[in-house]
Amino acid sequence: MSLRTIKIISILVTITGAIAIWQNGTFRQYGDQSGYQPIQPINFSHKVHAGDNKINCLYCHSAADKSRVAGIPTAETCMNCHTKIKPDSPEILKVAAALEKNEPIQWVKVNDVPDHVVFNHSRHVVAGLSCNTCHGPVETMEKISQFSSFSMGSCVSCHRTHREVILGADGRPQISAEKSEKKLMASTDCSVCHH
Ligand code: HEC
Ligand code: HEC
Ligand code: HEC
Ligand code: HEC
Ligand code: HEC
Repeated sequence: MSLRTIKIISILVTITGAIAIWQNGTFRQYGDQSGYQPIQPINFSHKVHAGDNKINCLYCHSAADKSRVAGIPTAETCMNCHTKIKPDSPEILKVAAALEKNEPIQWVKVNDVPDHVVFNHSRHVVAGLSCNTCHGPVETMEKISQFSSFSMGSCVSCHRTHREVILGADGRPQISAEKSEKKLMASTDCSVCHH
C-alpha cells in the first residue's frame, strides 16, 4: 500500500468516526436534549387527541395558563372520555386499572430544565406565546419529543427579542406603543432565571 492510500484511508476512518459521534449526540451543545423521546407507559398520541380530535391543550394541561407548571392530566381526566370511547382497548384498560388501584400513571418527563433555573409557564402563556413556539407542532406528534434545546442560549435569545414588546389592553403583544398597558418583563438579567 502506498503512503498516499494509507493517508486517504485514515482520513475516511476519521470522518466516519466523527459522523458516528455526531449522530450519537456527543458533539451537541451541552444541555441540548432536543429530540429526546422516552418510552411512555401508555401509548398516548398527541396527534389523535390534539390533532385529529382537536382537543384543546388546556383541557389536559389545565395549569399552563395559571401556574408555574403545565401539569399532566390524571387517569381520571382520561376516563372522562374513555369510559365511552374505546373502553376495551388494551391501552385504555391500563388507564382504567391505574384509576382502580388509585396509582398515578408513571409518565416519563420529556422537557426538564435544571433545578437552578426558574421557569414559569403562566407568565409565558399569558404573555401570548403559543405552546408551539417552545414545544413545536405537538398536534402532529404520535409520540411527543423535546422540540427546543432549552439551553440557556435559547431562553436568552428569545428574551432579547421580546424585551421591547409591548402588551396591549387585551393582554396580547402589540406593535403600536400608543395602545401599551405595560412592558413585558422578558429580561436577560442573570437573577431573573437564576435565584
Ligand atoms: C432567560 C433565562 C436565563 C438567563 C437570563 C440566564 N440564564 Fe443561565 N441558564 C439558563 C438555563 C435554561 C440554563 C440550563 C441550560 C442547560 O441545561 O444546558 C442555564 C445554565 C447556567 C449555568 C450552568 C451551566 C451548566 O454548566 O449547567 C450558569 C453558570 C449560568 N446559567 C449562568 C448565568 C449567568 C452568569 C447569567 C447572566 C449573564 C445567566 N445565566 C442568565 C437560563 C438563563
Ligand atoms: C376529550 C376526550 C378525550 C380525553 C380526555 C382523552 N381521550 Fe384518548 N381518545 C379520544 C378519542 C376521540 C380517541 C380516538 C378514538 C378512535 O380512534 O375512535 C382517543 C384515543 C385514545 C387511544 C387509542 C386507543 C386505541 O386503541 O385506538 C389511547 C391509548 C388514548 N386515547 C389514551 C388516552 C389517555 C391516556 C388519556 C388521558 C391522558 C386520554 N386518552 C384522554 C378522546 C379522549
Ligand atoms: C387528551 C389529553 C391531552 C391533550 C389534549 C394534550 N396533551 Fe400534552 N400530554 C398529555 C399526556 C398524557 C402527556 C404525558 C405523556 C406523553 O409525554 O406523551 C402529555 C405530554 C405533553 C408534553 C411533554 C411533557 C413533558 O414531560 O415534558 C408537552 C410539551 C405537551 N404534552 C404539550 C401539549 C400541547 C402543546 C397540546 C396541544 C396542542 C397538548 N399537549 C394536548 C395529554 C394531553
Ligand atoms: C416559553 C416556552 C414555553 C411555552 C410558551 C410553553 N412551554 Fe411548556 N415547557 C417549557 C419548558 C422550559 C418546560 C420544562 C419545565 C421544567 O422542567 O421545569 C416545559 C414543560 C411542559 C410540560 C411538562 C410538565 C411541566 O409543567 O413541567 C408540559 C405538559 C407543557 N410544558 C405543556 C405546555 C403547554 C400546553 C403550553 C401552552 C399552553 C406550553 N407548555 C407553553 C417551555 C414552554
Ligand atoms: C419564545 C420566547 C421565549 C422563550 C423561548 C423563553 N421565554 Fe421567558 N419570557 C418570555 C417573555 C415574552 C416574558 C415576559 C412575560 C411577562 O412579562 O409577563 C418572559 C419572562 C420570563 C421570566 C420572568 C417572569 C417570571 O416568570 O418570573 C422568566 C424567569 C423566564 N421568562 C424564564 C425563561 C426560561 C428559563 C426560558 C428557557 C427555558 C425561557 N424563559 C424561554 C419569552 C420567552
